[in-house]
Amino acid sequence: MSEFRPGLEGVVAFETEIAEPDREGGALRYRGVDIEDLVGHVTYEKVWGLLVDESLEPGMPEPEPYEPKSLSGNAPSDLQAETARLSSEWSLGKLVDIDDEQARDDLARLSAQMMSIVATSAAVHDGRRPAPDDVVEQGDTAAEKFLLRWRGEADPDHVKAIDTYWICTAEHGLNASTFTARITASTGADAGAAMSSAVGALSGPLHGGAPARVLPMLDEVARVGDPAAYVKDLLARRGRIMGFGHRVYRAEDPRSRILKRTAKELGSPRYEVAEALEGAALAALREYKPNYVIATNVEFYSAVVLDVAEVPPELTPAMFATARVAGWSAHILEEKRTGRLIRPSARYVGPSARSIASVG
Ligand code: COA
Repeated sequence: MSEFRPGLEGVVAFETEIAEPDREGGALRYRGVDIEDLVGHVTYEKVWGLLVDESLEPGMPEPEPYEPKSLSGNAPSDLQAETARLSSEWSLGKLVDIDDEQARDDLARLSAQMMSIVATSAAVHDGRRPAPDDVVEQGDTAAEKFLLRWRGEADPDHVKAIDTYWICTAEHGLNASTFTARITASTGADAGAAMSSAVGALSGPLHGGAPARVLPMLDEVARVGDPAAYVKDLLARRGRIMGFGHRVYRAEDPRSRILKRTAKELGSPRYEVAEALEGAALAALREYKPNYVIATNVEFYSAVVLDVAEVPPELTPAMFATARVAGWSAHILEEKRTGRLIRPSARYVGPSARSIASVG
């Protein structure tokens, strides 16, 4: 039996051909292609194709006409419930009983539909009526259709913000939700079950909810007007500066670089304060932990870019889920092709054999 590692940190659970963050180089590649070469060159739905089919074409399909059953406006839980429901609504076959082509098509249908579910749930959250299919069909890209469904209009700056965010966060190796998706897929369950269990894992604040904490910090720095004093005070209280540091990267997070550039290009009203806080935070963190690289992570400028698209902080976990349908689909398919039932072991450290009478 191998050594126990809390959080499975450093444990290699799979071999993958999809992507894995490059710790030292600070680059992120999807099937070998640097995300720098994707953003602004192809749309998210083509990146879905790259990740799932290893080909930009045909990419993620259009969503089918969709009738949600009962949405609460709480996007992650709506998404989890509706995705699980699609398994029976569409009579999806168990992964163990269907061929790879059918599994790929099920995942493609689900991915497109999951985007519609989040957009519809976001409309409910805003107290709006989601736009009907004929309005959504006027959009050319997945990001346009998403915004049309949600708001009935698709501002080009909002489209660019969302498309860039989606591409940057489409896949990131064996994180908690992707691991969950692979575990479910390894049991031979259907694609809807695997996708909905991934959404459940992502709904936790340690995985999907982080940008929500960055905006209040930016507001506070703007109010106080002295980023250096803000971070000094926070570190003196042993607080954590939100949006800095990463479990894997020991260099600049490449996604942060792209999102920062995008926030600037889109004229974010929070860009100036974000850049001032970033400079102050990096300087203070270098002094605070001279032997440990703590750089800007994806959450910091994700918050700023999603703010440009007027995505409220409470909807950011659901935005993350819409981005991740590509990575999850690719991993579920890889698991089906190469996988084996995932069943690790635990070391038993409970009471030794005893009588029922001793339990009381
Ligand atoms: N602000 C202040 N201190 C930080 C820090 C940050 N952003 N990130 C790491 N540190 C410090 C820790 O306090 C710890 O110090 P200690 O050894 O004196 O206790 C040390 O660096 C190592 O931290 P650890 O949590 O073990 O590092 P990690 O690399 O495993 O952690 C994160 C990665 C993301 C959990 C961590 O960097 C973090 O908490 N970041 C802030 C929260 C964040 O950005 N979350 C996502 C967006 S809101």
